[in-house]
Amino acid sequence: MTCDNESMTQKRKILVTAALPYANGSIHLGHMLEYIQTDIWARFQRAMGHEVWFAWADDAHGTPIMLHAEQKGIPPKQLIEDMALEHQRDFNDFNLSYDEFSSTDSNANQVLVERIWQALIDKQLVVEKTISQFYDPDKAMFLPDRFVRGTCPKCHAPDQAGDSCDACGASYDSTEVIDPKSALSTATPILRETEHFFVTLEPLRDCLATWMDSGAVQSEVANKLQEWFEDRLRDWDVTRDAPYFGFAIPNHPDKYFYVWLDAPVGYLASFQSICAREGLDFESWLSPETETEMHHFIGKDIIYFHCLFWPAMLEGAGFRKPTQVHAHGFLTVNGAKMSKSRGTFIKARTWLDHIHPDPLRYYFAAKITPSLSDIDLSLDDFKARVNSDLVGKLVNIASRCSGFVHKLGQSRLSHALPAPELYQRFLDEQASIISDFDNVNFGQAIRQIMLLADEANQYIDHHKPWQMAKEEGRDDEVVAVCTQGLNLFRVLMTWLAPVMPETAHKAAAFLDCPMDRFDSVNQPLLDHVIKPFEPLMQRIDQAQLDQVIEASKSSLAGS
Ligand code: 2FM
Ligand code: ZN
Repeated sequence: MTCDNESMTQKRKILVTAALPYANGSIHLGHMLEYIQTDIWARFQRAMGHEVWFAWADDAHGTPIMLHAEQKGIPPKQLIEDMALEHQRDFNDFNLSYDEFSSTDSNANQVLVERIWQALIDKQLVVEKTISQFYDPDKAMFLPDRFVRGTCPKCHAPDQAGDSCDACGASYDSTEVIDPKSALSTATPILRETEHFFVTLEPLRDCLATWMDSGAVQSEVANKLQEWFEDRLRDWDVTRDAPYFGFAIPNHPDKYFYVWLDAPVGYLASFQSICAREGLDFESWLSPETETEMHHFIGKDIIYFHCLFWPAMLEGAGFRKPTQVHAHGFLTVNGAKMSKSRGTFIKARTWLDHIHPDPLRYYFAAKITPSLSDIDLSLDDFKARVNSDLVGKLVNIASRCSGFVHKLGQSRLSHALPAPELYQRFLDEQASIISDFDNVNFGQAIRQIMLLADEANQYIDHHKPWQMAKEEGRDDEVVAVCTQGLNLFRVLMTWLAPVMPETAHKAAAFLDCPMDRFDSVNQPLLDHVIKPFEPLMQRIDQAQLDQVIEASKSSLAGS
């Protein structure tokens, strides 16, 4: 039996990250779309035998977190500690297989940020400029654009945010807003001068362009980036004035690093903890000459930070740049933006309170492609698809076959497959399924797997073991047909293990064999004793979905 042995033997060393959630609020299904995507990819790579490290953290700094803590009357450090616990509870219950979860507010991150900062200074990539920014005299603080409100300078709609207008979609500078007001007090903000440090990107133009052309970004992303490259690359303002919750800029006690400078460094600080624990050499993993890979999964709204600023920082600091940035679209629910009033702004915890995570992981996987298109969670479609694909087709294979093996074969599988060519047909699909998983084309992999699930069911339908079992002297034949069915089930479930880890775990217990490596299916499971069959998955009821919607309406009432 053969499969894609070549790609299995080449052991890759992969560092993978999902975007770091702000330590400022609860996790919702929009976040989960990305984290599930990252986790499936990480689990798939492990199932291929590669060395994978999923480094993760909370994104702890910034004005909104500082203000949120102030509003709650607690220090920001307390807020981020509480949020980190809440986040990790959600992540663990969704079976996300991260290797480390730290915080961008860690000492390790500060040390790395300062090291990168010094390297940027040494390479003369830091410039200082005087800028004018709105200042709230009542709050005694400079106002980030989103904390200025006023009339849109383009369409004159009142009460718009300081950076963009909801009514006409224009983006602008907060200093252009007509009749500006602070969103933090009733004060009219005043323009005040302040000294800021900028990272200058233009000297890195060629190196960034080469990186983008190296296949590190999707073509849609490359097209977007092309537009930014048409003009001079703008210097990046990385300074925020006190008061700010973040890291102070060395030798400038009233100036802080903008949260977006220290956030991606958090990927590396988190990985550094893994290295310390696992005895890996952080410096060689991060060296530009390395054979290792670094993959970031992100939403399409933060491409700029990951495909321009972040590679620039890494280059400036003498680190390797990302192997690939995998950007994805947003989640819609029932065809529209998640809405608190419609109860479709669903928190991760609300989902977990009513529905198992595996069906959602499966549904997302079935819709994930390597494009930037948005993905819709249609709850009716979710129910129909889970009940038909997972309960009706996949699990059904095992439940139709297991009883006969126990009853007529003393729980022992036959010593040979009655249809080895059918088993081989499944294996022949493995290379293309592997390539789809590797390219984040999970939807295509799932389609292929489900077509094979149909074939497995057709095989059983054709042989009708339930009829044979009624006929004298055909017990061995019945067990053989069911051995074939269970082996096909094993192949499908092994491929789906990165998508539905808990269901795969139960299936592995039932078949009494591990399902954590794709190459384990190269040999069928024969002459082997299986365990009693426990239901692997429940049907989704409309009532569960109604409860999620109702709970989402009430959990967000007043928020
Ligand atoms: O957009 C966000 O939610 C950010 N907290 C993502 C940060 S990703 C990385 F750079 F840290
Ligand atoms: Zn407008």
